[in-house]
Parts: sequence; structure tokens; C-alpha cells
Amino acid sequence: MVISPPRPQVQSAALVLDDLTVALGGRQLVRGMRLEIAATERVALIGASGSGKTLTADAVLGTLPPGARVLGSVRVAGVDVTRLPPARRPVAARVAAVGQDPAAALNPLVPVGAQLALPLRNHRRLRGAALADERARLLEAVGLTDAQRVLRSSPGELSGGQRQRVCIAMALASRAGLLVADEPTTALDLVTQAQVVAVLRESTRDTALLFITHDLAVAAALCDRAVVLHDGVVVEDAPITRLLTDPQHEQSAALVRAARAGALPAHAGAAS
Ligand SMILES: Nc1ncnc2c1ncn2[C@@H]1O[C@H](COP(=O)(O)OP(=O)(O)OP(=O)(O)O)[C@@H](O)[C@H]1O
Ligand SMILES: [Mg+2]
Repeated sequence: MVISPPRPQVQSAALVLDDLTVALGGRQLVRGMRLEIAATERVALIGASGSGKTLTADAVLGTLPPGARVLGSVRVAGVDVTRLPPARRPVAARVAAVGQDPAAALNPLVPVGAQLALPLRNHRRLRGAALADERARLLEAVGLTDAQRVLRSSPGELSGGQRQRVCIAMALASRAGLLVADEPTTALDLVTQAQVVAVLRESTRDTALLFITHDLAVAAALCDRAVVLHDGVVVEDAPITRLLTDPQHEQSAALVRAARAGALPAHAGAAS
């Protein structure tokens, strides 16, 4: 086994996972993970179903299932938040999240405007006109142009793509330095998927992004670097362009083949 030398702790890194291991029910499901994401870097965490992507996201967000054992460390903006639930984390180490299911993330009974006001009020102490302005700005940033209608609507009155845009707006509202998005486009059709990826790209210019997907084609549209997870172990960490042309690990090669067979038919044709 190759033992990596300890990495220097860059103070400005948005996220540093140092030898992160997550065990549940006596099984180590994420093992010895090392990952560093710089302040405005967008990194894709890719891997097959069950490879440990969501557990990694949970460890970063402080939302691991009860009974999970964590070894190693999770540092956000230089703060050690290992095993700290979100409510006990300092403001500087806040992490925003966008999940796979926007319907589940939003309260179906509360109008979007009231839900979007919560993080602005609680995290940023905005009130009155300042709150209304910022709410409108966020909706515009995620491409929801009919802001007044969206604010009045309950989540059930919006399309899946619109709901996911609202979730991204809510994640951006807290102004966290790191956004973790776990399969945020998987439940969407291809056109909406591309739109949400574009929104994420535009809205994370000043934010670090950990983008979780099993789809390398989607990752390539958004991120510069990809970390490939297989059975809880990082098997490759490379620029996406290099991963696409010269994957070093069999699992990476399988993800490249899947991307070429599916969402990248033109590339597959060019390569054959
Ligand atoms: N609460 C839990 N209790 C026990 N095992 C779990 C729990 N959550 C996840 N696992 C196991 O941990 C492994 C990794 O799960 P994880 O949810 O991180 O996979 P994933 O890469 O996100 O997969 P997918 O692409 O399907 O979302 C799987 O073998 C899964 O069965
Ligand atoms: Mg998952």
C-alpha cells in the first residue's frame, strides 16, 4: 500500500478531508479518504451506486446516521468540524447543501417566499426591504424570472426544475463558503438538468463546490477536477479532461464508457 505524505494544511482551503473513515454497523464504508478543495474550486465526487458518495457528503455536512463512527478529520475553512452537527458549527465553517429531491427538501405547506426568507433572516439577519431585495436577487441568480409568482407559490405549484432552483437559491442564501450538492440533477430531465448545471456553474463562482454524481458527463459540464470513489476508497483524483481521455483506474474507465455511451454520443463516435 502506498502511504501518502501528510499534506500541508492550507488555511484558505474550503474543505480538507484527512484520512476520513466512516464506519457503520462494523463496516468501514468510506476508508482513508484524503481530499482538499480550494476556495473557489469545483470538484466532482463520482462513483457507482453504493461507493460511499453520500456518506462522504454526510460527514462533511455533519448529518451522518446515528451510530456512525468517524476516524480522521473534516476541516471546513480551517475549522475542525469532525462529528459536529450543523447547529454546533461556527458560522465560518457553515456548509450549504443541495440534495437530489427538491420536493423533500422544501416544506410543501409553506410558500417559497417564506422558506427563502428563513436563511436570510437567521443567518444574515436581513429584514424588511433588504431581505426582499436579496430574495429577488437570489431568484434571479438561479434563473427564476417570474419572481413574484414563485415567491407566492407553494412548492407543489412549481415544476421539478423550478423547485431545484429554489433549493439552490436557499443554499446560496446562507453565503456558506462550501456548497455540497448530492446528485442535484438526477431527478430532472436532460434539458432541465443542463439548465440546473448552468445555474450551479454561474452561482458558485465565489464558492467551493463538492458536486456528487454517478454521471461523469454531468460532472464534466461543471467541474474541473474529479475524484473517483470505489467501495469507499478514492481510486483516482485528476482533472476531468485527463480522466476522460486517459483514465488510470478500471472504475474510472467504466464511468468514462458509461458517459460516452449515454450523454456523450458525439464523443463516442469521434473516439471510435
Ligand atoms: N444508514 C446506513 N446504515 C448502514 N449502511 C449504510 C447506511 N447508509 C449507507 N450505507 C451503506 O454504505 C455504502 C455507501 O452508501 P452511500 O449512500 O454513501 O452510497 P452512494 O455512493 O451515495 O450511492 P448512490 O449513488 O446510490 O446514492 C452502501 O453500501 C450503503 O449500503
Ligand atoms: Mg448517494
